[in-house]
Amino acid sequence: MQRCLTLTLARHSRLLLRNKLALVHCQQSAAMSGLLINQPKYAWLKELGLSEDNPGVYNGSWGGSGEVVTSYCPANNEPIARVTQATLAEYEETVQKTREAWKMWADIPAPKRGEIVRQIGDALRKKIKVLGSLVSLEMGKIYVEGVGEVQEYVDVCDYAVGLSRMIGGPILPSERPGHALIEQWNPVGLVGIITAFNFPVAVYGWNNAIALTCGNVCLWKGAPTTPLTSVAVTRIVAEVLEQNNLPGAICSMTCGGADIGTAMAKDERVDLLSFTGSTHVGKMVAMMVQERFGRKLLELGGNNAIIVFEDADLNLVVPSAVFASVGTAGQRCTTTRRLMLHESVHDTVVERIAKAYKQVRIGDPWDPSTLYGPLHTKQAVDQYLAAIEQAKQQGGTLVCGGKVMDRPGNYVEPTIITGLAHDAPIVHTETFVPILYVLKFKTEEEAFAWNNEVQQGLSSSIFTKDMGRVFRWLGPKGSDCGIVNVNIPTSGAEIGGAFGGEKHTGGGRESGSDSWKQYMRRSTCTINYSKDLPLAQGIKFE
Ligand code: UN1
Repeated sequence: MQRCLTLTLARHSRLLLRNKLALVHCQQSAAMSGLLINQPKYAWLKELGLSEDNPGVYNGSWGGSGEVVTSYCPANNEPIARVTQATLAEYEETVQKTREAWKMWADIPAPKRGEIVRQIGDALRKKIKVLGSLVSLEMGKIYVEGVGEVQEYVDVCDYAVGLSRMIGGPILPSERPGHALIEQWNPVGLVGIITAFNFPVAVYGWNNAIALTCGNVCLWKGAPTTPLTSVAVTRIVAEVLEQNNLPGAICSMTCGGADIGTAMAKDERVDLLSFTGSTHVGKMVAMMVQERFGRKLLELGGNNAIIVFEDADLNLVVPSAVFASVGTAGQRCTTTRRLMLHESVHDTVVERIAKAYKQVRIGDPWDPSTLYGPLHTKQAVDQYLAAIEQAKQQGGTLVCGGKVMDRPGNYVEPTIITGLAHDAPIVHTETFVPILYVLKFKTEEEAFAWNNEVQQGLSSSIFTKDMGRVFRWLGPKGSDCGIVNVNIPTSGAEIGGAFGGEKHTGGGRESGSDSWKQYMRRSTCTINYSKDLPLAQGIKFE
């Protein structure tokens, strides 16, 4: 009887399971037909090797059996396609394969590694339009900006190719006879790269091209809301590696959320962790890495100011301020959030900028005439509304914008707010949305002090013709930021310079100049080629 009951129950649950599976299948096919990737208009996504369901793990072969995430288009909130993220077990396997790949990658001479990076740059050039279109579709930035950030990856590849023949340390004069003092640079090993949604290609590119040239292998976790871009980029890079008979695990990828990010931060085998994202999350990551005395490279928040003096060329100021505050819908870490205007030009500039704001063409980000697209997520729309509310409560006046737009997607009006105190709490907060706070100042001293009084220290610009002021701005009592500009906007940096900032921005430097040093470890080597053992500092120990 008991056995009979068990059998019946077993059959019943099998039936239930079958029905459930049928239901899931039904739901899946319904969702499948609704995916943008299945519409003829988006057939180009297949040129990037994307399909309805994409594996979110690459370590020489493709896999992934973790959570399935759907990527949505911010311009209409429609699902594009799905990606299956990594489980922690797959992360573990990937780290092992990536470290294994390092053994052979580190033995390849740097100029030969540079040749592989050159090929990656070329492969990106071939796909620049289609990859730029994907960035536009998935992140929501306008098409030219999507292409622009692929161009940053291409440019940094070129830079890294040159670097591959230039990395080196000095031979220093030794105070001891018959001794050589040499600085040797070696790769750190495995570079973990965690990137943010707003630059889903460029920031990985800066890290990847330089880290590879320096002899490191990479493990990438992109933002959970831009997984298709991570997959598409990794496909391009993997193809180059595979064509050269190199292990694909030299550039591994594990799509995932906080679980994978935490695993990377705590993992002793991740020799350098490069993290780009909010100051809030960056701080947690930094503490976990510090806990194990690991290396980190942080690119965190900014609260960037443009300062306009009485002698500024307003024909430069207006387009600069509009590009830097409205561009990418206010979602660059270099976006201008504070516009400080000398009292003599305040009203004129506000009027001209407000007029320009009203002419900004808003539309589908992939439409070539559009200048301004949606916010990346619905949460960002809520943050926008909350910030406007707080600004009003703290004494701000809305000059233009302030509303969510009545159209599909996460569109909000680009917004200008005047009348706030320079130290109002909302002015000191980085809200990653297109809200510009305009402040009125009287003296240079005051303006420089306001620039520096925020916690972040990424980018800053002044507009002036006064050469003395320019050099005071660049000097010890001038801007305390990592990026210090004159007569150009705060955003839109070139890859040739070192990119990053001070204080709560994290202190890291990526991209050009000598940023490569962050991806290597320095050995100071003293070699005695004499038959004596003289000691430094003239010490006799006999
Ligand atoms: C970022 O917002 O995370 O300088 C990077 C710029 C771009 C890079 C921004 N080249 O605005």
